[in-house]
Amino acid sequence: ISVTFRSAGGDTWHTDAVAGQSAMEVAVRHNVPGIIGECGGTMACATCHVVVPEEFVPDFDPPEVDEADMVEFLDGACDRSRLACQLKLAPDHADLVLDLP
Ligand code: FES
Repeated sequence: ISVTFRSAGGDTWHTDAVAGQSAMEVAVRHNVPGIIGECGGTMACATCHVVVPEEFVPDFDPPEVDEADMVEFLDGACDRSRLACQLKLAPDHADLVLDLP
């Protein structure tokens, strides 16, 4: 699986991932700036905010209520904002792109 993280300024970080990892784990392992993952994926820190591009939204289950509640209050949040720790990568996420807010 390859996951590309894209900043608002147009910088990109290409990463390799395996199914079962979260997008947060992948970003942290590749030192993608802005994704800190302070809480280790327990939905307590919201330092893993990403925006899912329109075309990839159907690839993920919609957020649980807890996640949606947290994301709502983040800077730069939109209706495609997610916590990267809750985005589990699956084999069909072959060429995923995620935007950094
Ligand atoms: Fe803390 Fe996602 S890593 S909320």
